[in-house]
Amino acid sequence: MTHDLTLPAAAAEGLAERAHRDPHRPRFHFTSPGGWLNDPNGLTHRNGVYHLFYQYNPLAPVHHRIHWGHATSTDLVHWTDEPIALVPGADGPDRDGCWSGVLVDDGGVPTIVYSGRHGGRELPCVARGSADLRHWTKDRANPVIAAPPEGVDITAFRDHCVWREGSGDGTVWRHLVGSGVRGVGGTAFLYESDDLNSWRYVGPLLTGDASRNRGELDWTGTMWECVDLFGLDGTDVLVFSAWDEGTTHHPLYWTGRYKGDAFTPTALHRLDYGGRYFYAPQSTCDEHGRRIMFGWLQEGRTDEANTEAGWCGVMSLPRVVTLGGDGCLEQAPAPELAVLRRNRVQVAAGPLTDPYTPLHSVRGDQLDIETTLRLAPGATARLVVRETPDGAERTVVEVGRAHDGAGTLRLHRDTSSLDPTVDTEPRYGELPLDADGRVDLRVLVDHSALEVFANGRPLTARIYPTRPEAAVGVGIGADGDATLERFDAWQMASAFTDGPRPLWP
Ligand code: FRU
Repeated sequence: MTHDLTLPAAAAEGLAERAHRDPHRPRFHFTSPGGWLNDPNGLTHRNGVYHLFYQYNPLAPVHHRIHWGHATSTDLVHWTDEPIALVPGADGPDRDGCWSGVLVDDGGVPTIVYSGRHGGRELPCVARGSADLRHWTKDRANPVIAAPPEGVDITAFRDHCVWREGSGDGTVWRHLVGSGVRGVGGTAFLYESDDLNSWRYVGPLLTGDASRNRGELDWTGTMWECVDLFGLDGTDVLVFSAWDEGTTHHPLYWTGRYKGDAFTPTALHRLDYGGRYFYAPQSTCDEHGRRIMFGWLQEGRTDEANTEAGWCGVMSLPRVVTLGGDGCLEQAPAPELAVLRRNRVQVAAGPLTDPYTPLHSVRGDQLDIETTLRLAPGATARLVVRETPDGAERTVVEVGRAHDGAGTLRLHRDTSSLDPTVDTEPRYGELPLDADGRVDLRVLVDHSALEVFANGRPLTARIYPTRPEAAVGVGIGADGDATLERFDAWQMASAFTDGPRPLWP
């Protein structure tokens, strides 16, 4: 593929430099070299190399004419920028953008199935790659599905989950396309193919009920973006991002049974309590048999602030997803991240007798904190991060146990930033607790990116203190009867070598 590099280089001048200087830019989360990043795409682990593709606009930090960026890693921690994989065509079905999709192995040929955007709508397209996944050729027959299913009034038609199914002569490709039936709810349409090019429509795999719980944190929306179906220890999981024009962006999942042409749900769950701050996730089974998931951490500051910063959008840390004893997913950062840990600090175990005590031995804006707490009924424990010396800016993570035993994980962001234009809405969700009230709490701070895991439940958010250099304090405390059983903190090294990265590698 050849591109005219003069125009992009001129248009994007200074972006990577500005991005590099921004104090809110994470240093151990993956970000694009500059410009715009959204969904993870084409996740795969091949010959010991992880491939992370992503929705990318290298020209400006705005969602426009999306390309597929590409980065590789052998350890899920250090990433190498690879040549841009897909560029919107000069004409053809993806001239307005190469939207989200997946990568499959078609008898040794790496093949991307993505949504080509043109004229306000998206249609499925295919591109085939070289063995090193660096060079891609779009199929001349694109789009490979010419139109959404006939006779259904749909809200959208995009994003893909593709897998090989069956055995012997009976193997087929199966394919889900995210959609929604107007007036009914979000859905995923199932297709079948022998060659990834000609597709037979099978029917909707499962359809949500948009009249149920509208506006609630588990509302299934009017469209399902980025559907992802996988099996985990005998349970089938259907992850999707519930979407509604202008109102809703949050990731959910059904557990249940995928059999024949249908998915029979058992239960619906929230995937991450941060909502839109962990959006459009995609997962893959790696060569070690682990289910690895990434999501897109949207920004919480204004478009103007993004433009000034020269970049926007963060990829989550890689997560290992397992099935918990209660039938819900448990998520944890990939253990590989431990290679970045430096200067371990431990805090003595004991009862937390004060509502708040600053920990002078732990400071920073790149931190990994691992604690175990024990909560009696009625107790709340808190961990404060990114605090300025005067306490005017601080971000508070709270875990609580009600008198009836119910646990809650909460993130208070009302004082995270004194900038009134920044999103400071709180976030919260249910925290599973055993009879002892034990909480394993892990908090990863990476400048504006914050990922919290409490007993396997994640809460992801963004924070933008106005005095980022001063907002490095950490503290802990509790109300009620709470005990600190363990507290370890590490400084996290940067995962990227210093300096701006080429926008168009
Ligand atoms: C989700 C999403 C997808 C779409 C892509 C476009 O964030 O809207 O549905 O394919 O982003 O960039």
